[in-house]
Amino acid sequence: MRHLLDTRTLTRADALRLLDVAEDMRDTQSREVRKLPTLRGKTVVNLFFEDSTRTRISFEAAAKRLSADVINFSAKGSSVSKGESLQDTAQTLQAMGADAVVIRHGASGAPQTLATSGWISAGVVNAGDGTHEHPTQALLDAFTIRKRFFAGDSRGRDLAGLRVTIVGDVLHSRVARSNVWLLTTLGAEVTLVAPPTLVPQDVSAWPVRIVYDLDEAIDGAPDAIMMLRIQLERMNAAYFPTEREYSRRWGLDAARLQRLPEGSIVMHPGPMNRGLEISADAADSPRSTVLEQVANGVSVRMAALYLLLAGERETTHAEEDA
Ligand code: CP
Repeated sequence: MRHLLDTRTLTRADALRLLDVAEDMRDTQSREVRKLPTLRGKTVVNLFFEDSTRTRISFEAAAKRLSADVINFSAKGSSVSKGESLQDTAQTLQAMGADAVVIRHGASGAPQTLATSGWISAGVVNAGDGTHEHPTQALLDAFTIRKRFFAGDSRGRDLAGLRVTIVGDVLHSRVARSNVWLLTTLGAEVTLVAPPTLVPQDVSAWPVRIVYDLDEAIDGAPDAIMMLRIQLERMNAAYFPTEREYSRRWGLDAARLQRLPEGSIVMHPGPMNRGLEISADAADSPRSTVLEQVANGVSVRMAALYLLLAGERETTHAEEDA
């Protein structure tokens, strides 16, 4: 794997390989010594032009657990404020020895530009670009679903037969896009629920069912319901119902939580707007996988960095460890 830019072009075999390696990584995390020597001597640069808690820290933890050196760059407080371009910023960090660049950027397509422009030779991982994609979020979501529904060793299993309902601000959500491509590649049935003003124009070309009424979607008995963050920072007033109306019609509250089928799970990529798209009852319920998603994110990002930076050795982690 040279870069990880999206899930739209990820094959079923690539996706399963990533999830299976993540499972290997997860197994190593229950050992007394969690740190592995695999990426000793490699440098991972976290290049973040937008705010992040989970993704940036998770990539940092993943790289460190594989013994890579980590350089964290945040556009806030950097020479970006003096007008430095993406090309010059990336080349400056490459000159300090980056082997992989993990980039989050407000512009859709920035990671693809970095990977294909020839500006740098490092592998590129998309950590969220504009409203386009957030592939490692979708991979950790798929990993979480697989672990919940196929207990024990789930290596090699896809998500056929599972129903996933994604609810909320689909228009602005890179998480929704990446999940739609990945979950359907893995065989899950995906339903999107959103106010009509928060549905992308090209959605009819997506392999999903669209429903505008959350109660109707809940009647469809989803195995997993994924609540999206309302991205108020990207919102035009014309798109959005009032917060009160949104919460009443599209929020997951205690009453709707009760109507979900036995065994179903409640997901959220974070950060959550508690009281808007998800109530505290739902966020903190035993069905909630929010913190499991965060924990699994480290294993998935270890897998991504491993396949990017050590995959060419063609040894499995277990072989290397033996
Ligand atoms: N899910 C997610 O991308 O969260 P952060 O913005 O905190 O990284």
